[in-house]
Amino acid sequence: MAEITARSVARDAGHPGPTLLERFRRNQPWWLLPISVVAVLGGFGLYALVSVFIFRPGEIGPYLSPFWSPKIGDNGKLFGPFPGAAFILLSPLAFRGTCYYYRKAYYRSFFWDPPACALGELRHRKYRGESKLPMALNNLHRFTLYVAVVILGFLWYDALTAFNNPATGKWGFGLGSAILVVNVVLLSGYTFSCHSLRHLAGGGLDCYSTARLGTLRNRAWRGLTVLNGRHPMWAWVSLFSVLLADVYIRMLQAGWFADPHIGF
Ligand code: FES
Repeated sequence: MAEITARSVARDAGHPGPTLLERFRRNQPWWLLPISVVAVLGGFGLYALVSVFIFRPGEIGPYLSPFWSPKIGDNGKLFGPFPGAAFILLSPLAFRGTCYYYRKAYYRSFFWDPPACALGELRHRKYRGESKLPMALNNLHRFTLYVAVVILGFLWYDALTAFNNPATGKWGFGLGSAILVVNVVLLSGYTFSCHSLRHLAGGGLDCYSTARLGTLRNRAWRGLTVLNGRHPMWAWVSLFSVLLADVYIRMLQAGWFADPHIGF
């Protein structure tokens, strides 16, 4: 007699059953995910602070690090010791910090609130949700989205102008320009898969056919819904691409190697 498993039951019921990733996760101890999130998010936060406050401005040739875009202040300095990038950093920090997906990730991993499904709360304080400060600040997410869209515009500008070398005025294609383009595409995926944006497009409507610009909003909502289904994926890949773009520019600045390019 064939063995009865969760997968065979799901298959008989016409459901594809758990994916490879889901089965992998199920077989791991519950603490692996929270610890990984703490390591990755904590490591990224530390790197961002070092890159902005300790390293020099992340710019070389036609390439500008996403941490330093848009360029503000004189030679990276704005107020005394504070580089312009420190102020720019506030925008992605607020956007990601109040993101619905990241909230789940860091509530579980940093605050153990609770640390995983089917586990009780490890802290037994009175639960206040997001009705009191500082967690109430998470309700500002939709406003941080507006700022993030503006910053995204600057990043697209940087990625496209990275094909033009300011020293020679010539156009070309380098590994750095490819990295910046991939980065801004992934950041666009993250920004446009935002739950708040999807709600803005059509989430608050009861009936598209009677709403102003209803057809257009319905199309936008459908498109954003496709992106939104993979919001956690966009969140992580865009985080890594920002890191990669900055590290690559730092390596060029340090003279470790020359940017492989054609046409410049
Ligand atoms: S919900 Fe994650 S960016 Fe808006």
